[in-house]
Amino acid sequence: MNEIRIGIVTVSDRASQGVYQDQGGPAIIQYFQEVLNCVWEPVARLIADDQPTIEATIAELCDVAQCCLVVTTGGTGPAPRDVTPEATRAVIHKELAGFGEQMRAISLLKVPTAILSRQTAGVRGQSLVINLPGKPRAIAECLDAVMPAVPYCIDLIGGPFLTTRPERIAAFRPKPA
Ligand code: MTE
Repeated sequence: MNEIRIGIVTVSDRASQGVYQDQGGPAIIQYFQEVLNCVWEPVARLIADDQPTIEATIAELCDVAQCCLVVTTGGTGPAPRDVTPEATRAVIHKELAGFGEQMRAISLLKVPTAILSRQTAGVRGQSLVINLPGKPRAIAECLDAVMPAVPYCIDLIGGPFLTTRPERIAAFRPKPA
């Protein structure tokens, strides 16, 4: 399958109940519109902070919608309803701990509470799953920190060939030995 689909999952009790408007999902779509220069399609979901729902949504976007990349926003903190990292770990086959480490390191230069995010990433089949915090401004800050490695990661797991606008993000692909 050559079409590039990106799953975008807003995890928020209040946004999913209509208490306020989802800002995270649209911010992720805008981010990829700015950064990618290949044809791609968003597959967006807005769900509550409920672990079984988060697990089922990530699995559906990977296995059924065949998204090569699934980005979640929200539910990464320490509050009782924050369970996105647990749900992510339950459905990924391999954890890529460096993504969370790098996003926290960059975010800590901007805001001391970045240390409260337990965001992680991992691979399920041919899909890369990445957690982002719920704050809309965290989206570009965090994605900029890991995006140079995302296209090559998707190459390695057998996904489609992603290209970026080099003036915005230079995708790094190591030269074959
Ligand atoms: N990371 C960045 N880059 N910018 C931010 O504003 N907010 C932090 C942190 N990471 C933040 C950030 C805050 S205040 C919290 S509580 C945690 O992410 C968890 O947020 P979440 O539960 O909405 O995922």
